[in-house]
Order: sequence, then structure tokens, then C-alpha cells
Amino acid sequence: MSEPTALSAELISLARELDKADELACLRTRFVLDDAVYLDGNSLGALPVAVPGRLADVLYREWGELRIRSWDESGWWTAPERIGDRIAPLVGAAPGQIVVGDSTSVNVFKAVVAAVRMADEDEAAREGATGGTGGTGGGGVGRRDEILVDATTFPTDGYLAESAARMTGRTLRPVTPAEVPAALSDRTAAVLLNHVDYRTGRLHDLPGLTAAVHEAGAYAVWDLCHSAGALPVGLDEHGVDLAVGCTYKYLNGGPGSPAYLYVRRDLQPRFDSPLPGWTSHTDPFAMRPAYEPAPGAVRGRVGTPDILSMLALEAALDVWYGWGGEGDGKDLGPAREAEAMIESVRAKSLALTDFFLRCVSAYVPEGRVECLTPTAHAERGSQVALRCDDAGDIMKRLIAQGVIGDFRHPDVLRFGFTPLYVSFTDVERAARVLAETLEGAA
Ligand SMILES: Cc1ncc(COP(=O)(O)O)c(C=O)c1O
Repeated sequence: MSEPTALSAELISLARELDKADELACLRTRFVLDDAVYLDGNSLGALPVAVPGRLADVLYREWGELRIRSWDESGWWTAPERIGDRIAPLVGAAPGQIVVGDSTSVNVFKAVVAAVRMADEDEAAREGATGGTGGTGGGGVGRRDEILVDATTFPTDGYLAESAARMTGRTLRPVTPAEVPAALSDRTAAVLLNHVDYRTGRLHDLPGLTAAVHEAGAYAVWDLCHSAGALPVGLDEHGVDLAVGCTYKYLNGGPGSPAYLYVRRDLQPRFDSPLPGWTSHTDPFAMRPAYEPAPGAVRGRVGTPDILSMLALEAALDVWYGWGGEGDGKDLGPAREAEAMIESVRAKSLALTDFFLRCVSAYVPEGRVECLTPTAHAERGSQVALRCDDAGDIMKRLIAQGVIGDFRHPDVLRFGFTPLYVSFTDVERAARVLAETLEGAA
């Protein structure tokens, strides 16, 4: 890195001041980090210090010594709901509505099909009440023959929505989130949306779009992969019907850690899973031939839980609990504490991305990169996406210099800001190295 200039000296000193004032700074020691600036927590979160010890205990004692007894004695069997309740405050959900398991992709499929089945049920009830003939009472598709999907979505959601549409006899209509209100009609059964765009970092209007979907009599399914753990989601408050998300990004659950499914409490009795595996049965060990779904969020389960990954995730979530015990004088109880923490995380996330944008515009010559991430706070997630033609090459060079972001085809540099462990000093350094790299490659 080159010698600091007057401009960089000023920004370096500002970064230090911001770090000193940062109430979350103490959490950085809860993660395994090195000298690199890690701005890829929106792809794979860093390893929490507590995880290896907990996993060793799961392996050597719970599996090695207790063996099959651990399904009961170590709480393995109920881990999907228990860990769901640990995630719940972070996404604004009361307990009993989130179940952990499977991948986001699988949960997208369950949620979209279940949403369409609820729409079918509504139509059948409406037909029954009015004595009409155009609905689904006869087993046909009826008037709600469309599923809307975010056209800008991470591809897996689009692929699965297409399969869900084919399976339920619907037409899939890709529209951008901005186009959703105009695209909604009494033909819409379900809408699959992303809270934060994986590529640009744009934050979509979850309350407004959910209300619009409901106004049209349809069901909203939200993908929270890029928002959970980075900003408040407010699932209960905004009446979201169904939501899914991964846990390996801002929740730091580890590579391939299980995803989660939220089913709003009042919809749970109507949640008709397209993957009704035996662990979602009301009495799985009765081994009955006839399927009878369990009550509550449990009916979102499918097969045997992936215990090693799941318990690594549970240990990783401890980062969100016990913050109040670290000397800031709050004594709120675990769920409130986690909710308060997500508010602080959001404030720091915006401060980090603001500071990054400021440093980039100070250091990088105008026109060398184009910012794809909205500058308005209300429209920004926790990442900054910069476009430039040589993005693939630039990201390789950045990584070689210890600034870890990622490249998204064909021309996007993505930088994710995890407020639990990214400092303002990291941000200034990343922008300075980026500017030098862009200059060196010009
Ligand atoms: C928005 C979004 N949805 C879904 C996925 C895929 O999830 P999974 O591979 O866990 O099924 C990702 C992965 O990064 C994602 O960013």
C-alpha cells in the first residue's frame, strides 16, 4: 500500500474515531479473523469463536458417548424448532413460527407451493360461499392462475418458482419488485420476492409490497437471505405470510448451514407442504402409513435434521445473545436483547456503507466505477455493489492484497458489510486498496 496522503490521513483518523464510538466493536473478538479485510460475510459469514468447541462437544460427547440417546437427551430432535426460535427475534417473529432445516432452495419450493395451495383454498371457500363455478372447487386452477416472481432474483428462486408453477398448473410471471403492484390482480395466487437484491444490494419495500399482495388477495413469500442478521425485517409486524432465508451469510452459521422457513402463526393450520416428510408428522414414531401433519411450524420439516450443521448454527447464534451482559447496562431478556442488537447492527451497517461510499468517492477517480447500490438508506441493504468492466480481474487483485469481497458475473464487485465484525478502519483500507488496484489496472 502507498504512503498516506493528507486526504487518506483524514479518513484514517475519522475511521479510528468511528471505531472508538462503535458500541458493537466489542463483538469482533467473538469471531475468528485475521489481518484481511473481510467483506464477504454476505456470502459466507466468518467463524464465531464459540463454534469449534461446541462442535467438538457434539462430536465427542453427544455423538461419541451418548450416541442415539442424544436425540432426546441432547435435544437433537427438537433442534429445528428450538433454533428457529433463536432466529425469530432477529427477523421480528414471535416464537413458534420458524423451523430450521433444508436449504433455502428447498424452502422456497415448500413456501411457494404452500402459498398457492392456500390461494386455492381461499378460492374454493369463496366459490362455496357464492355458489360460483369459476374457482378451484372442481379441482382446477381457477382464476388465480399466476405466480409472480422477482425477475431480478437469485437464480435458484426463479428455477424453483418455475417448477412450483408447473406442478400447480400456474403461469410464472417474472416482474421486477417495482412492477409488482401493477402486475397484481385477482389472477395472482402468490408472489416470491427478495428483501435485498443479491447483486445490487437494493432493499425492497417489504411492508408496502406485502400490503399490496394482500390487497390483491394473494400470498407473499419473502427470501431474506441478504437481510436477516443485517437489518430488522419485522415479519410479524408487516403480516408476512411465508419467508425463507439462509443462515450462512449474516447469521454466520457456516458453509451449507441449514436454512429456515417462517410460516405465520394463523396460517400454520393451512400450511400444506409439498414435501410432507416423516419428521413433519404429528406422531412420527407411530410410523403410520397415513400422513397427518404436526401442528405449528413443525409441519415445515421434512426429513432427519442435519444435526452437525444445525448445532454449529445454534452455537453461532449465541453471538446475538449476551451482548447486554457485556457492560452496556441493558438487561432486556434474550429476545428483546437480540431485537435491540439488530437495530444497532442496522445503524452500524448504514454507517459502514455510507463511509465506504464516501471513501470510494474520495479515492477512486470519477467514472472508474459505477455504484449499483442505492444511496438512500431506505433502499440499501448491507452491501455495496460497484460495476466496472474489469471487475473479475480487480477482485482477484484485491483478494491478493487482503481485501476480500466477491465478483458477480459479468462486471460487479460486491462488498458485504457485517457490522458484527467489520470496522470503519477496515472500510477505509478496503476503499484505499480498491482505488490503488483500479489505478494499477487502468
Ligand atoms: C437470495 C438468495 N436466495 C437463495 C440462495 C440459495 O440458497 P441455497 O443454496 O442455500 O439453497 C442464495 C444464495 O446465496 C441467495 O443469495
